[in-house]
Amino acid sequence: MNDSIPENTPQTGVRHAIPGDVSAIGALMERYAALGNVLPRTLHDIRHKLDDFYVIEEHSQVAGCGALEGFTPELAEIRSLMIAEDHAGRGLGGRLVDHLIAAARGRGFKRLMALTYVPDFFRRRGFEVVPKDALPEKVWGICVSCYKFNHCDETAVLKHL
Ligand SMILES: CC(C)(COP(=O)(O)OP(=O)(O)OC[C@H]1O[C@@H](n2cnc3c(N)ncnc32)[C@H](O)[C@@H]1OP(=O)(O)O)[C@@H](O)C(=O)NCCC(=O)NCCS
Repeated sequence: MNDSIPENTPQTGVRHAIPGDVSAIGALMERYAALGNVLPRTLHDIRHKLDDFYVIEEHSQVAGCGALEGFTPELAEIRSLMIAEDHAGRGLGGRLVDHLIAAARGRGFKRLMALTYVPDFFRRRGFEVVPKDALPEKVWGICVSCYKFNHCDETAVLKHL
């Protein structure tokens, strides 16, 4: 599938993850899961779900990643969105989310959600804050087996596509 966006330049670009990206994604995961920004995922889980992952590269180096995971034929979630600290604050996270939004539309999803500690970042990309029980597919299908289920402090954000 060719789902490049026009903003890609020779220096930066978003593409589907490949097996060679697993260690870079794992390093981002190790860093940001330890800081509590994202839920931890093992290398095994990343490998298993690699088709969901996109990476953003700068000068041929992985600068960040994000995953687009479908729950139902109409609802998908952005997960594991991370930009390396030395690349942050320069628009890469926003571009990656724009790409995930376009990819979700291209795959026919009607709603795109995230659980996040940075709702304002998502608001800038057209998401709205919603109560978690507006997303029963996620809460009762996936969250129920999460270690944070009874004390989840993340904010649910949703965008209609
Ligand atoms: C959140 C994160 C992905 C943002 O990536 P980034 O490349 O630094 O963000 P960008 O430079 O693309 O910022 C895009 C816009 O969002 C804003 N923004 C960035 N981080 C923000 C934050 N933490 N809170 C609110 N707004 C934020 C920027 O000011 C910018 O606004 P503008 O378009 O009006 O100029 C990145 O900081 C990160 O990886 N954080 C740690 C992991 C994490 O929290 N992931 C989210 C899990 S859902």
